[in-house]
Amino acid sequence: MDPFVEDASLLFICLSMIYSQKTLGKDEFMREKLLRGESKLAIVGLGYVGAPLAIAFAKKVSVIGYDVNEEKIRQYQNGHDPTGEIAPGDLETTTIEFTSDQTRLQEAGFIIVAVPTPINRDKSPDLGAVISATQTVGKQLQKGSYVVYESTVYPGVSEDICIPILEKESGLVCGVDFKIGYSPERVNPGDKVHSLENIIKIVSGMDEETLDAVAGVYDLVTKAGVFRASSIRVAEATKLAENAQRDLNIAFMNELAIFLDRIGLETNEVIETMQTKWNALGFFPGLVGGHCIGVDPYYFIFQAETVGYDAQLVLTGRKINDSMGIFVADKAISALISGNKRVKGANVYVFGATFKENVGDVRNSRVKDIIMRLCEYGVNAKLLDPVADEEEIRKTFKRDKAKIEDVKDADCLIFATAHDEYKNLSYEQIDRWFRNSPGEVSSVIDVKRIFDKNRFESMGHIYWGL
Ligand SMILES: NC(=O)c1ccc[n+]([C@@H]2O[C@H](COP(=O)([O-])OP(=O)(O)OC[C@H]3O[C@@H](n4cnc5c(N)ncnc54)[C@H](O)[C@@H]3O)[C@@H](O)[C@H]2O)c1
Repeated sequence: MDPFVEDASLLFICLSMIYSQKTLGKDEFMREKLLRGESKLAIVGLGYVGAPLAIAFAKKVSVIGYDVNEEKIRQYQNGHDPTGEIAPGDLETTTIEFTSDQTRLQEAGFIIVAVPTPINRDKSPDLGAVISATQTVGKQLQKGSYVVYESTVYPGVSEDICIPILEKESGLVCGVDFKIGYSPERVNPGDKVHSLENIIKIVSGMDEETLDAVAGVYDLVTKAGVFRASSIRVAEATKLAENAQRDLNIAFMNELAIFLDRIGLETNEVIETMQTKWNALGFFPGLVGGHCIGVDPYYFIFQAETVGYDAQLVLTGRKINDSMGIFVADKAISALISGNKRVKGANVYVFGATFKENVGDVRNSRVKDIIMRLCEYGVNAKLLDPVADEEEIRKTFKRDKAKIEDVKDADCLIFATAHDEYKNLSYEQIDRWFRNSPGEVSSVIDVKRIFDKNRFESMGHIYWGL
């Protein structure tokens, strides 16, 4: 290379670095700028993750809450929380400026993206929302801003996919005009103990300065503190590792439950006995659904495949967990047959549609597999849920939500989700729901083992628990 050209490019790099220090060096005080009201924080995507995060930040700084879903924005503006994750009273008093006007993002110097990352039908990652949210942010991005991703992604998405989109849409240069970070979300829906404030928040940044800025801002809303991951990729990978680990541990318990069922042993008795060992992990069998544990491992599997590695263990765990709805439904069918019931047309009530107890989220709920399997056998399957929205049930399960006061003449009851409302049911109340036909025995299928087997058996019913 011509020495002059080489010197000139060196000079350009040095100048860019000095410029970058000047424009962004000040912004390691982004936290102070936000606290002084000189800049705003924006959350893009106000769902289960984004909404509580926006509420928490709005107690400290000015927050713009942006979502493409205008109906959702209207609900928040009218004081209705579609996620059920916001503490009572918080929405009424919050100062969040809810909007579906993307130009409002121009007012924000710190933008957090918390949009969904589901999977496609072929179980490959669906980055559609992340890409479109990034295009939106890019169009409105101002110099000196930080963009932090919270959506669960595989390592490299933030840097290799999002940065080029942000640069293209904004005409700005990453690292010079704006910076990016990643902070995986660990909140657990319905869990009031492990809330945003009480869990350690992983933060990461594209360089030391960004890491300081991101850590400083998140530190405003976490009592447990922040953990500075060594890179954005490490933070992205950690989220996948945490969820794949949980998925696999539950898959093991599910496999154990299938095996113990075959040899006629009660899983809960084996687990109780096993728990006396110091290193027992405390997992239980169950239906794994929802937007995270049942999905994120596929991001792991997908990226492993792109580098020629077959993530066999993670995939097997997924297969086991995805098969549990059918396993449970088949146990119900076999209980009907053992109880001399006619399967076709039997009244089976499924209690609980959501993917976990006390939350209203039906996304990726494996209860759907139970219902579909029962329908294949011609069973008259009815679905109840005290928390899930009627419309969501209609969309997801293609049926109306049944009412608890209408339960009668049941041949089998399947308790699929351990909502508190179900845990509080009395055995006498449940007993009244069964059909009383001579020579027939009704059954209870208790997926989360919220009832006592002996009580139902002493009442003359068949009981099966996972
Ligand atoms: N739900 C959880 O418990 C949980 C926990 C940890 C991590 N995560 C991860 O957090 C992310 C968000 O999950 P969630 O459960 O909050 O999802 P969600 O579906 O509840 O909410 C996402 C919101 O983003 C909005 N949105 C979609 N595309 C948009 C766009 N282009 N621009 C603006 N808004 C857009 C949607 O309208 C929706 O309101 C996902 O990556 C998920 O894997 C979720």
